[in-house]
Amino acid sequence: NENLVVLGIETSCDDTAAAVVNSNGEILSQVISSQAELLARYGGVAPKMAEEAHALVIDQVVQEALDKANLTEKDLTAVAVTIGPGLSLCLRIGVRKARSVAGSHNLPLVGVHHMEAHTLVARGTISFCEMITYGLLCNYRGPVTLNISWDILFYQSQILAAWLVDRELQFPFMALLVSGGHNLLILARDLGDYIQLGTTIDDAIGEAYDKTAKWLGLDLRKSGGPAVEELAQEGDAKSVKFKVPMKQHKDCNFSYAGLKTQVRLAIEAKRINAEISLASASDEERQARADIAASFQRVAVLHLEEKCERAIEWGLNIEPSINHLVVSGGVASNKYVRARLDEVVKRKGLKLVCPPPSLCTDNGVMVAWTGLEHFRLGRFDPPPPANEPENAV
Ligand code: KG4
Ligand code: ZN
Repeated sequence: NENLVVLGIETSCDDTAAAVVNSNGEILSQVISSQAELLARYGGVAPKMAEEAHALVIDQVVQEALDKANLTEKDLTAVAVTIGPGLSLCLRIGVRKARSVAGSHNLPLVGVHHMEAHTLVARGTISFCEMITYGLLCNYRGPVTLNISWDILFYQSQILAAWLVDRELQFPFMALLVSGGHNLLILARDLGDYIQLGTTIDDAIGEAYDKTAKWLGLDLRKSGGPAVEELAQEGDAKSVKFKVPMKQHKDCNFSYAGLKTQVRLAIEAKRINAEISLASASDEERQARADIAASFQRVAVLHLEEKCERAIEWGLNIEPSINHLVVSGGVASNKYVRARLDEVVKRKGLKLVCPPPSLCTDNGVMVAWTGLEHFRLGRFDPPPPANEPENAV
């Protein structure tokens, strides 16, 4: 039972991320460099610009991940990197870096599917802080003394609770993946053996959150989703009557394009001017925006609830031993989404597994962990040649 140490690199979209995990599921380090500021300035992801931003920071992000883990490249067992789906210009920056690290130290390489990584991160990863909390709870009297506040302790014990569930997460299980580009319902039967029960026929829910935020004139530096979630707390979720998509379709597919249009029309009808920031809007206008945010969120999530319920029935027909629904991807960090889906899952007699919010959005940990799971089963590529020319990839 040798200890494997894997570096994971993720550059599929707008975050440059790297992390190191080991085969105990411990997160030795995690670094994310976000392009959120850049995106806010230009109103979305422009592939060429994102590529340059990745290229600028990738070396530093990987070095920092190794430094934080107190390791050098030589100490690694393997290098894992996201190979898709994503923006090809951006993916290439990560793949180049991974090949150069693996090539110079003769390390095997694992190509990782981004959505599989969002799913598998729910299987047994644990951060250093969580280990300390766990240690404290178990009356651990190790050399680490930390001055942590009770608030943080409480928060960490919640994560810990999630971890305890995670450790039970065995195949087969169901997964709902909700991000900016994907909306998938998956039956995960085994490592690498997945059945897709549903997908979106147009937009993903994260895209709908992002556009709603933009049209409501919210601060996009926080990224659209969290901004809508926050404002929705002040609104009346039943005030604007949006239609739940695809009511008549008895399948597990999603559609968010129509809801996006409904939101845009409601915003136009209320004469909301996105040029005026939320901070400078009148009380009345702020309320109008909050009502739309809350009503949108309610219906967007109702759509998830209905399809999840059906997918669980389908999944149980195929694999009666399913016990868990994993919900992951950026939108899974939303508290309302988690709470509503928890109800559905309980009704169906299953357990909900949501990774902590920082592991739901794009990160290097999920790539490293997924790479490690595949490596353990002998699924990896041989080391690339040392000193491979830059343009080889
Ligand atoms: O998984 P992710 O980080 O990147 C992709 O693979 O797309 O997901 C990003 C998406 C964005 O659309 C973002 O607005 C959304 O996840 N998101 C949220 C929240 N946090 C991130 N949506 C709703 N509520 C949130 N709290
Ligand atoms: Zn993602």
